[in-house]
Amino acid sequence: MTNLADLEAANAALIAAAPDTATLDEARVQILGKVGNVSLLLKTLGAMSPEERREQGPAINGLRERMAEQIAARKAALEAAELDAELAGVHVDLTLPAPPRRRGSVHPTMQTMDEMIAIFADMGFSLAEGPDIETDFNNFTALNFPPKHPAREMHDTFFLPEDANGERKVLRTHTSPVQVRVMNRTNEKLPNWIAQGQEPPIRVIVPGRTFRKDSDQTHTPMFHQIEGLVIDRNIHMGHLKWTLETFIARFFETPEVVTRFRPHHFPFTEPSAEIDVRCDRSGGEVRIGQGDDWLEILGCGMVHPNVLRNCGLDPDEWQGFAFGCGVDRLGMLKYGMPDLRDMFASDVRWLQHYGFSPFAMPDPATGLS
Ligand code: PHE
Repeated sequence: MTNLADLEAANAALIAAAPDTATLDEARVQILGKVGNVSLLLKTLGAMSPEERREQGPAINGLRERMAEQIAARKAALEAAELDAELAGVHVDLTLPAPPRRRGSVHPTMQTMDEMIAIFADMGFSLAEGPDIETDFNNFTALNFPPKHPAREMHDTFFLPEDANGERKVLRTHTSPVQVRVMNRTNEKLPNWIAQGQEPPIRVIVPGRTFRKDSDQTHTPMFHQIEGLVIDRNIHMGHLKWTLETFIARFFETPEVVTRFRPHHFPFTEPSAEIDVRCDRSGGEVRIGQGDDWLEILGCGMVHPNVLRNCGLDPDEWQGFAFGCGVDRLGMLKYGMPDLRDMFASDVRWLQHYGFSPFAMPDPATGLS
């Protein structure tokens, strides 16, 4: 018969001597594992006479409990010591700067658009919108494009495949079809963000995406325009000129901007003009407000009587003017970007450099940017 006191002393020494948790676990297996010395002792109880068992049972079980307690206590002590040792080797330098957090920015096109909208809203224009996919009627026919006009041809326009009714829709090539939507009353059931059939007098601007098959330093296949439309009685070229000159001076935030109206042709306006701004193009950069060069920035004119008629308005009663300008190109000019295609390349470095803080909300009362 093993001397329980000796065994307990030997086991206790083994536990106390374990230098780390791995060695302690080996000791635990030696003592309480399947064939551990205390486990084996417990198994001898089965072969004992009832009297013997009554005496040995509590003694051996007590031994097992004390061993388990000692192992648990030693384990807790060793774990605490190991954690302390690990922490002692770790240095946290709270004075180090935090890793930079990536912050998004407002795209220059959207910033420019917001600036333009803020200026026109301040002049009393309201906002109208239309869809990117347009009918041939709204994009061309209602706007007085003759049937064989070159702009309808494949090289300019993205045509969609014919639908079941034999109709060929287009990706709108300009925001001018929204002029038609604003004036024309139809019975179509449309989502309520799409402009439809307003009573004159009308004063709207129309921001939106436009599409043309074109790509070079100053053209991209998708770009943005803002259209303007004013319909009222006795509207003339003077209203058009004042509105656009006021807009340009406020947009470029310099009183030195010199503009000129150059006769032009659009099927939907008569007379038509393009506005150029005085600029300096030397040194591969365009600078506004100096130099002796001209840069075209927008198209405009008096709404053609045929367009008014196509939209159900009597040209003897109502007149108006319209204009359309490229938003990306105006932004490029104002903020000095050399290539329009970069605007849509989604290069994060470019966006970080040219992007705006969301807090730089354009407000004509406090400054635009
Ligand atoms: N829609 C014309 C274009 O995209 C611009 C324009 C709009 C001209 C309104 C006159 C009136 O070039």
